[in-house]
Amino acid sequence: MEDAQKILVIGACGQIGTELTLALRQRYGGDAVVAADLKRESDLLKGTGTFLPLDIMDKMTLQVQVRRHNIKSIYLLAAMLSASGEQQPQLAWKLNMESLLNTLEVAREEGVQKVFWPSSIAVFGPDAPKVDCPQDAWSTPATVYGISKLSGEQWCHYYFTRYGVDVRSIRYPGLISYKTLPGGGTTDYAIEIYHAAVRGEQYPCFLKADTRLPMMYMDDAVRGTIDLMEAPVSRITVRTAYNLAGISFTPAEVAAEIKGLVPGFSIIYKPDYRQAIAESWPESIDDHTARRDWGWAPEYDLRKMSEEMLKNIRPELAMSTKQ
Ligand SMILES: NC(=O)c1ccc[n+]([C@@H]2O[C@H](COP(=O)([O-])OP(=O)(O)OC[C@H]3O[C@@H](n4cnc5c(N)ncnc54)[C@H](O)[C@@H]3O)[C@@H](O)[C@H]2O)c1
Repeated sequence: MEDAQKILVIGACGQIGTELTLALRQRYGGDAVVAADLKRESDLLKGTGTFLPLDIMDKMTLQVQVRRHNIKSIYLLAAMLSASGEQQPQLAWKLNMESLLNTLEVAREEGVQKVFWPSSIAVFGPDAPKVDCPQDAWSTPATVYGISKLSGEQWCHYYFTRYGVDVRSIRYPGLISYKTLPGGGTTDYAIEIYHAAVRGEQYPCFLKADTRLPMMYMDDAVRGTIDLMEAPVSRITVRTAYNLAGISFTPAEVAAEIKGLVPGFSIIYKPDYRQAIAESWPESIDDHTARRDWGWAPEYDLRKMSEEMLKNIRPELAMSTKQ
């Protein structure tokens, strides 16, 4: 990357944004990556590069900052996630769509060369194939979050074909990480469960024992994102969003894995409104197009991920999930 090619990460203090910003700074240098968020700068980012307070709903300020910092790539991670979105559907739609449209418009007007915006497996609804859901499965999403992601994918496609903005996207599955806390998704249980195990608490799971969902360890997601953004433009055949698979498992399977590593760990099941969201999604994802186009391959399985999570969550910082 040339020196002058600066990156802006919006939503940099969230679950993915924090780790992606740190990885981008490691790769391109602290000065090359500007972090922005509505929240105050997170402790993990402090001292690693420039931080801007930014509300992505304010297009004019975004435009000024893109110009001021000579931004050539934008990673837009600000959004309202699936479970939170079902609590506030109008607000979820507004944030998820306006943030993307503001970013795409500023990219077009200011000659930003590349944009990354994540989609989600939530684009698939109950009528999509459950197992190995294909790249081009057509379906009606069951959540406002899924509707916003499906519409967002079409906007990305439109800005690429109409204006030549090089927008790239991945349909992330549930992302699992230890550095930051989850942001209100239906797959958050798969993070909380490790925190409960580290604290020595029983975990009250909000999904049923046999609810199988596609998941991915954060290191794989961050590597996949950077690989997609670095792939030559000629390799990119999907201008909506790429399916990406990591590991598919159920709460019972991850609990059994944890029991093997933390003897005495126990789980109980108290499904809530998130069960219906989970049941509307596929169990596993077919990602052969991403593998073919830009060489995607996950590195973490359930065992390797569980070991990493339990090794790295600090007991004094683990969140309590006691009810
Ligand atoms: N975490 C997952 O499992 C998952 C799965 C699929 C897709 N995704 C997608 O990845 C992206 C990031 O997800 P995440 O889990 O990191 O979310 P998160 O909620 O943890 O982080 C989002 C960040 O955006 C910031 N933000 C919110 N409104 C803003 C605004 N108006 N202006 C500026 N910043 C604002 C928040 O303060 C927060 O730091 C989202 O688009 C999400 O839909 C996440």
